[in-house]
Amino acid sequence: MSKITAAITAVGGYVPDFVLSNKVLETMVETNDEWITSRTGIKERRILKDEGKGTSFLAIKAAEDLIQKKGLDPKEIELVIVCTATPDMKAASTAAYTATQIGAVNAFSYDLEAACSSFLFGMSTASAYIESGRYKKILLIGADKNSSFINYKDRATCIIFGDGAGAVLFEPNEEGLGLQDELLRSNGEGREFLQATYGGSSYPINADTYNEGKHYVFQDGKTVFKNAVFNMADVAEKILKRNNLTNDDVAWLAAHQANKRIIDATANRIDLDKKKVMMNIQKYGNTTSATLPLLLFDYESQLKKGDNIVFAAFGGGFTWGSIYFKWAYNS
Ligand code: UT7
Repeated sequence: MSKITAAITAVGGYVPDFVLSNKVLETMVETNDEWITSRTGIKERRILKDEGKGTSFLAIKAAEDLIQKKGLDPKEIELVIVCTATPDMKAASTAAYTATQIGAVNAFSYDLEAACSSFLFGMSTASAYIESGRYKKILLIGADKNSSFINYKDRATCIIFGDGAGAVLFEPNEEGLGLQDELLRSNGEGREFLQATYGGSSYPINADTYNEGKHYVFQDGKTVFKNAVFNMADVAEKILKRNNLTNDDVAWLAAHQANKRIIDATANRIDLDKKKVMMNIQKYGNTTSATLPLLLFDYESQLKKGDNIVFAAFGGGFTWGSIYFKWAYNS
């Protein structure tokens, strides 16, 4: 019997309708379209404006898109993982709510949090379950409502982040397609450079801390940038080397969309042609856990069975890694 590998067999996605353009940001903070475009590659991002709607709203929409396109009976889904850094609320699993709302009534579900690397690490988790033979249908969702903890007076963060969600279905494959290798890392010394300090268990929010605004996300952009460039490129290069792959063997780079300059640096390190670099940061900005599945959502029609894809991500914590993956279908 051939070894079971974990393949992606369907993709869905969703972004909210409201577009926050660089032009509008110019009226909110001291910035300009030229600076944002040249320093980050971002032109606009989507924002979920509706009151009372959280990350699960985005996750449910992405999952429903996948279910409808695939013609999947949600009752067959065994596990729903929602990768997110912005859960709906504390103490109640966003994934449990999402699973119930999409009709995945036979599934168990949980959230997975590793900042901007959440979805990448989730790919590892979903694949391990599939490879073990324990489960056969896993819905992996990456969803974040970043606008819920962004200070729209802080130009260092509000120009970057957006809201969105993407979903993929993991199933067993007997042709050797799907996840081939992974190189995942973390280093807690990085947490001081990118965090929302208040609102967690270390520093719960009270009236005083609220006024300080430290429940918003803060980043030391330069330090995060340097670490992202070095580490994302490093793991992408290493995973190619240890699998004896050259740039010719790689069909696509699917890198976390945090800053176009970080993606370009990773592509340059592995000497990859621009045409092979998936890019949608111009439309959505950094959607944290949703960047990788939203790339698959936007590029799905161009992907061919057998294509070698190098995934790479870097995020708060710090967390980072790379996955070598073989695409399993033509759409
Ligand atoms: O998802 C993973 C986590 N996040 C990331 O990976 C993001 C990593 N960091 C970045 O993408 C970049 O560091 C930023 C986009 C946040 C900032 O770009 P930068 O090229 O590192 O700019 P900088 O912070 O070095 O600032 C350069 C200049 C400064 O002015 P002076 O001191 O040279 O006069 C800033 O005050 O640009 C100024 N500046 C701005 N100007 C207009 C900073 N932010 C802005 C802004 N608009 N939004």
